Amino acid sequence: MFIGIDLGTSSVKMILIDHEQNILATSNSSLTVQSPQDGYNEQNPQEWIDATTECLNALKEKKPKEFSQTVSMGISGHMHGATLVDSNGKVIRPCILWNDTRSHKECYEFENQQFDVRSISGNITMPGFTAPKINWIKNNELESFKKISKVLLPKDFLRFYLTGEYFSEMSDASGTLWLDIKQRKWSDKLLTCSYLEEKNMPQLVEGNEEAGILKKTLRDKFQFDNNVIIVGGAGDNAAAAAGMGITEQNQSFISLGTSGVFFSPTQRFLSNTGDAVHSFCHCLPNKWHLMSVMLSASNCLDWICSITNSSITDTLQNVENYFAEVNLLENSSFFLPYLSGERTPHNDPHIRGSFHSIKTTTDATNMQYAVIEGVSFGILDGINSVMKVNNNFEKIFMVGGGSKSEFWIKLLSSLLQRKLSVCNQSEFGAALGVARLAMHVDKNIDEKKSIVKEIEISKNFEPNTDKINTLLKRYEIWKNLYSSNKKIAPNLLT
Ligand code: XUL
Repeated sequence: MFIGIDLGTSSVKMILIDHEQNILATSNSSLTVQSPQDGYNEQNPQEWIDATTECLNALKEKKPKEFSQTVSMGISGHMHGATLVDSNGKVIRPCILWNDTRSHKECYEFENQQFDVRSISGNITMPGFTAPKINWIKNNELESFKKISKVLLPKDFLRFYLTGEYFSEMSDASGTLWLDIKQRKWSDKLLTCSYLEEKNMPQLVEGNEEAGILKKTLRDKFQFDNNVIIVGGAGDNAAAAAGMGITEQNQSFISLGTSGVFFSPTQRFLSNTGDAVHSFCHCLPNKWHLMSVMLSASNCLDWICSITNSSITDTLQNVENYFAEVNLLENSSFFLPYLSGERTPHNDPHIRGSFHSIKTTTDATNMQYAVIEGVSFGILDGINSVMKVNNNFEKIFMVGGGSKSEFWIKLLSSLLQRKLSVCNQSEFGAALGVARLAMHVDKNIDEKKSIVKEIEISKNFEPNTDKINTLLKRYEIWKNLYSSNKKIAPNLLT
């Protein structure tokens, strides 16, 4: 048996699978995010430990015999968070999360060097990434900075709690900006830009390699029969890819979760820093991936639902009826979906969301449509940025909460002019991905190559050719709205 743990931003999700990858049990425990100021997002690592304990207990209760036979575990987590640990292994301050934009000034400081930072890190320095957060701590909380012994990513802190050991792996470490992405090792030069050294970093492995053993106290507490090995695991997006078997250049996925992601594996290091494309290692050896990230995807839908006092189901139904009937170009407003700034392609922490072309005839449904369309345009922006360096993908899987809406998938399919596929089990995708990685350490499994095989497609969606031209015309207008808004955006923030 194998366990996959996914430390998400809003909950810990866990899965127990057998040697045939049958799902035997799942569990879930929610987490909170603290936002003390606009642009600040933090989490208390103790909550991760409590939620993980609750989820392990729930799996044990559901399948006691199988649970006790667990061979290995994998951990996935939300990326980029800075968890600071002192020399006694104690957490110094709350973890600063991936969607926190406070360190935008420090991004310039990090990149202002005698060498080309981006050519090693593979990425433009964005406030969501780990490195500028440490520069911010040094500039604003010097006492905390002085206590740093290790900087850990969220899932690697959880591993430290479970094993007492400091390990990370390539996919998540890529999002720190201290990794030499091409060479797959910590870069002394990049660490120096945050006043750190390699001794402040955990040891690196690949996602499918051993990275610690569950502590004896926890083995006894949860009554496992044998030592449980913990593998490297993966950052949440690489883990979701492993869960669906997306490891080759012709495969990809779009995730319509809190953030909107387009993920595209590559067989070598490629980058497009000009469009803020993320260039990271994949969670398997000798594989990399490109990724576009928009910070607000399905949370734009949550937001418009709450201010129009409409459920998600009703909103999507309204929008679907509307889309089928009206002359979109004449009647619809436009929406920029940048509720918390944007990464790909703008790298703009100052921009915020806005409606445009509001008329006396604009009603709630029209605005709901504009939101869904605006998020979809943002996804297209991301895909176009990735396509500048890799346009070799045929298969696109849809995952994340938004992918439960057939209407939204059909709209995206028309906009992208591509077939989109959905698969079962995507809800536990990242947990399944790391459970699959954990299977690699089992000596009894011969065919290691087939562990991350592609998951079965449950439905395909084809573009609606009638709507393509209308959507593309609107996309061209929508793109100009960011260009005209960006200059004024910093002045609008207090
Ligand atoms: C990726 C990113 C998010 C987080 C949260 O770069 O910031 O996808 O991992 O899910």
